Amino acid sequence: MNNLQHLLDTADMTAESIFALFELANNLKADPEKFSNVLAGKSIVTLYEKPSLRTRVTFDIGINKLGGHAVYLDHKDDPIGQREAIQDYAKNLSQWADCIVGRVFFHETLEEIAKYSSVPVINSLCDRYHPCQALADFLTLYEHHDDVSKLKIAYLGDGNNVCHSLMLTGAVLGATVTAVTPISHSPNAIIVKQAQDIAANTGATIQITSNINDVEGYDVIYTDTWISMGAQKSLEHVLPSFLPYQVNKTLMKQVGAQHVLHCQPAHRGQEITSDVMDSDQSLILPQAENRMHIQNAILVSLLA
Ligand code: CP
Ligand code: NVA
Repeated sequence: MNNLQHLLDTADMTAESIFALFELANNLKADPEKFSNVLAGKSIVTLYEKPSLRTRVTFDIGINKLGGHAVYLDHKDDPIGQREAIQDYAKNLSQWADCIVGRVFFHETLEEIAKYSSVPVINSLCDRYHPCQALADFLTLYEHHDDVSKLKIAYLGDGNNVCHSLMLTGAVLGATVTAVTPISHSPNAIIVKQAQDIAANTGATIQITSNINDVEGYDVIYTDTWISMGAQKSLEHVLPSFLPYQVNKTLMKQVGAQHVLHCQPAHRGQEITSDVMDSDQSLILPQAENRMHIQNAILVSLLA
């Protein structure tokens, strides 16, 4: 993986290293037996300041399938850095664990852990990025389309972590990614610029708009919750600004999209309607399955 020690975001990866991960993920998927001992004797700490279904279960089961051991650390009522300094936390964990996987509120927490950790650190979601998700998303598209660099992907909804990682990863892979969000929820301007700078070298196109009519002839629609974990907002408060961005049958037809993705948890009837989520156009469950395969590919690349 580009000799990366950590995976905190995907911006520093190359298309070559991402495609190598996809190939490894496909091998892991096709022949799990062959990899059943690659992490034998290795222990991986997975820490959570926020809830999770997919991330927790895919890391736990995935690590078990590789012969390793996952240790769950619940930090929902015990924020990292409160009981002891983050540097001591990271240095102690490094004495016992072979890898640290972290879901945190603030990216800075992961940067601080990575600074003092002597073992690889993987970001399993923070306020800014969700790299494991974006790699699983593009693995899913890679399996269903001939050339991901030719894909036009429209992200609809809240321009935060999932949107950022989709833009950065799409930029590395040469795809077109357009974030369509209410102006009040535009993606972070620094991350958009970073993705556009990467795109200048890869032939990708990274754009933002608030006008849903700007997306026509796109291959893939992607959406995410309108209220992220930890956000202090009520549905009534966000509904007026987000409702025009709901992914429903009319919108799918208007955009001409073949496939729909959602990182989940989904809120049926809010950001996506059930008829789209459960349709033949939905790659949402294969996308969830691929979380495990891509994460195992990451773990094998970093640790085996
Ligand atoms: N997509 C995702 O990260 O799901 P969880 O929050 O359930 O882990
Ligand atoms: N944007 C969502 C992603 C959940 C996987 C959140 O941060 O809650």
